[in-house]
Amino acid sequence: MTRNNYNVTIVGATGNAGMSTLQVLAERNFPINNIFAVASEKSMGKNVSFGDKTLKIQRLSDVDFSNIDIAIFCAGSGVSRKNAAAVTSVGCVIIDKTSYFRLAPKVPLIIPEVNIDALQKGAPLGIVSTPNCVAIPLAMTLKALSALAPVRRIVASTYQAVSGAGRRAVEELYSQAKVIVSGGNIQPNIFAKQIAFNVIPAIGDLYKSGISEEEDKISCEICKILKSNIKVAVTCVRVPVFIGHGMSVACEFAKPFSEEKVYEALENVDGIVVVDRKDGSDTFVTPLDAQGDNAVYVSRIRKDTTVKNGLLYWIVTDNLRKGAALNSVQIAEAMISIDRQLKRFKKP
Ligand SMILES: NC(=O)c1ccc[n+]([C@@H]2O[C@H](COP(=O)([O-])OP(=O)(O)OC[C@H]3O[C@@H](n4cnc5c(N)ncnc54)[C@H](OP(=O)(O)O)[C@@H]3O)[C@@H](O)[C@H]2O)c1
Repeated sequence: MTRNNYNVTIVGATGNAGMSTLQVLAERNFPINNIFAVASEKSMGKNVSFGDKTLKIQRLSDVDFSNIDIAIFCAGSGVSRKNAAAVTSVGCVIIDKTSYFRLAPKVPLIIPEVNIDALQKGAPLGIVSTPNCVAIPLAMTLKALSALAPVRRIVASTYQAVSGAGRRAVEELYSQAKVIVSGGNIQPNIFAKQIAFNVIPAIGDLYKSGISEEEDKISCEICKILKSNIKVAVTCVRVPVFIGHGMSVACEFAKPFSEEKVYEALENVDGIVVVDRKDGSDTFVTPLDAQGDNAVYVSRIRKDTTVKNGLLYWIVTDNLRKGAALNSVQIAEAMISIDRQLKRFKKP
């Protein structure tokens, strides 16, 4: 490796998050020496695109990770759990998009615009995690708003696209919609109930407490990223949208805040774009508007007069970009700018 170019492997390269990662790496001209694409046994013989190149899919066991600088894992928690130790033990740094390591105390959970300081300290296990696709835009707005007054509690409801549940979930929405429109009957497979022309108010397993796995991830990750104990009440809902997660947020501050400064605080964050009645044109952003875009859009900003110091707003992000691929590529970019040799991020 020349120290200005890196050998990179994408594990899960045929999936939604993996394909977006290849696209974002190419778009941003990440300094690559060699790039490898890994998927499951089912994908042997297939290819994926990387810029104008074609990459042959390989098995994870075919890759010599001692020759890889950065592996971006997006093949599910089980694949990360099973393979991370072997990969990091030969000096490869993992950026993990799955939830498996996110809450581990020695694993930095990073949104570069929010907590780059946590990355400066290195990665003792050789692993850096990227947060849940809802936690990323939510944490970005909460960090900005916390500069106005401490945030005490939020109540959020999500409207999450099917692509967040993987490639087969996208196919399920598409095929259900086609069958239903032509008068046929469908049998849910990936989702617990029909997703076409419906909404499903549960993402991930439901715990005994009634909280869903996705809701638990979001509240725990927000507290870790922001190093705070903001109370997070969230209801996660899957909606029949292909790409783009929406979220309505009711935010309660511990003290009075200046409503005028809300716009400025949000607009000052790299990656956040405020589209609101102030602009005079579009008054709000929908998932379709955000598709393929890197920004976290905030609109429908207004005071919540039903509580003492309350604010209401609406967030939309492309879950495959800032919610997944872009954040992990930004982490890689931040790592090489902190330590070109990546020594600080390798497992000792
Ligand atoms: N989609 C999102 O918005 C998003 C956002 C943040 C985080 N994530 C996380 O990223 C991970 C992947 O999500 P996704 O939406 O991209 O899922 P997906 O579309 O279902 O893709 C899964 C990928 O993993 C590969 N894979 C499965 N088993 C494997 C194995 N044993 N060895 C190597 N590769 C294997 C699949 O290969 P085959 O094609 O060969 O099956 C495919 O490339 C999940 O942990 C998810 O929680 C996703």
